[in-house]
Amino acid sequence: MIDPYKIRSDFPMYHKHGGKFGDKPLIYLDNAATTFKPYAVIKSEEHYYEDITANAHRGDYSLAHEVDVAYEKARKTIADFINARTDEIAFTSGDSMALNQIAFGLGHKLHPGDEILLSEAEHASNILPWFIISQRTGAKIKYLPLSDNHVNLDEVEKAISEKTKIVSLAMVSNVLGYLLPIKEIAQIAHKHHAIMVVDGAQSVPHIKTDVKDLDIDFLAFSGHKMLGPTGIGVMYGKRELLDDLPPLLYGGEMNARFKSDGYISLEEPPLKFEAGTQNIAGALGLEAACEYLNQFSFDEIHAHELKLKRLAIEGLLANGNAEIYNADNDTGIITFNIKNVFSQDAASYLAEKGVFVRTGQHCSKLTPDLIHTDSTIRASFYIYNTVEDVKALVEACKHAEDFLDVFFD
Ligand SMILES: Cc1ncc(COP(=O)(O)O)c(C=O)c1O
Repeated sequence: MIDPYKIRSDFPMYHKHGGKFGDKPLIYLDNAATTFKPYAVIKSEEHYYEDITANAHRGDYSLAHEVDVAYEKARKTIADFINARTDEIAFTSGDSMALNQIAFGLGHKLHPGDEILLSEAEHASNILPWFIISQRTGAKIKYLPLSDNHVNLDEVEKAISEKTKIVSLAMVSNVLGYLLPIKEIAQIAHKHHAIMVVDGAQSVPHIKTDVKDLDIDFLAFSGHKMLGPTGIGVMYGKRELLDDLPPLLYGGEMNARFKSDGYISLEEPPLKFEAGTQNIAGALGLEAACEYLNQFSFDEIHAHELKLKRLAIEGLLANGNAEIYNADNDTGIITFNIKNVFSQDAASYLAEKGVFVRTGQHCSKLTPDLIHTDSTIRASFYIYNTVEDVKALVEACKHAEDFLDVFFD
C-alpha cells in the first residue's frame, strides 16, 4: 500500500521547509503539470556533476567511458520500465520534443487525401505538430468523436479507414484525465495499416505501460511528470519504424560520416535521434526516478490516486458549490469550477490557503468546447499526496466564493 507520509521523507520539497512554502502549508496538487523530485533523483544528477562529468559517446579516456556506461545503463533501466528494447528508446528534451520528432519524422509517409486521427482532448503538443505536417503534406486532420468525453470503440471503428495513416492519442488526457483503451484502439489502427502514436505524458507516470503488450508504434513521455528532472524525455518507437524515421535534429554524434558534397550517413537508432550533447544528468535522474517508482506497483499507485480523487469528489459535492466535469474518470485528475467564480480567482483564494492547483485551459485549447466552459481548476494527485491534502482542498473550496477577501485583506 502507498504510504504518502513515509514517501514524503524522500522528498526535500516536504522535508527541508517543515512541510511549508513560506508561511503556509504546502498542499501541492498540480502533479499533472510537474512532480516533486525525491533525493535519489537529485543525488543521481549530482553524481554526474560532482563525480563523473564528461561528455557521452565521445571520449576515449576512462572517465568518458564511465559516463558512456552510466548513460547506456540509464537507457536500459528506462527501456525496461516500459518493456522496450534499448535500441527502441531515444532521449529527447521531453514529451513535446518526442511528439515533434515523431510527427516531423512521419511526415514523409503522408500524401494529400491521407488522414491523421486525433481527439479534441489532446494537449497542444499532440495537435500543433500534426497541424504543421497536415499543412505541408495535404493530409487531413480528423477528430475522434467523444461521447461524454469517453471513446467508444464503435466510433473508433467508424473513424478509421484505409485513408487513416496515423492515429495519435493521449492515453490519459491532461485536462479531463480519461483513460483511453489504447490497446484496442491500436488493434483497430493496425487492421487498417495505420501507425499508432501514444502521448504518454499523463499515463506513464501513473499506469503500467508495456509497449509490447499495448502493441503501439510510438510513445512519448516526459521525465519531470514522473519524479524525474525537467529537460529529459523519451521517444519510443518500434525498431523497424525508427530505422525508417528521419531525425528532427542534425549534428554531432548522430552521423556516422558526412562528405563535402552533402552526403550524410546516419548512426543507427537510437543514436541517430540524439544530435549534439545530450542531457546526461537528466537521463541519469530519470533512471533514478524509474528505480524509485519500481519499488511500488502501479496498481498501488493507481488505487492511492483514485482513493484521493473519490474523497475529493465526495467533499466537493458535499460543499454544494462545485461543478465537476470528470467525476467518472479513472485517474487522479479532477477538473472542476466553483459555481459563479472565475477559476483563476478561485485558485488565487486556494493559493492563499497554501493549496496549489492549476487553472485555465491546461494547454488543451480544444477541450473547453467539449465541456462547455472556458477555464477550469485542475487538481492532480500523486504518491505523496495525503488525505489531509484532500481535506485542505475541500475546506478551501468551501469558502472560495470569498475570493475577494484575498484581494482586499
Ligand atoms: C497530455 C500531455 N501531452 C504533452 C505534454 C507536454 O509535456 P512537456 O511539457 O513535458 O513536453 C503534457 C504536459 O502537460 C501533457 O499533459
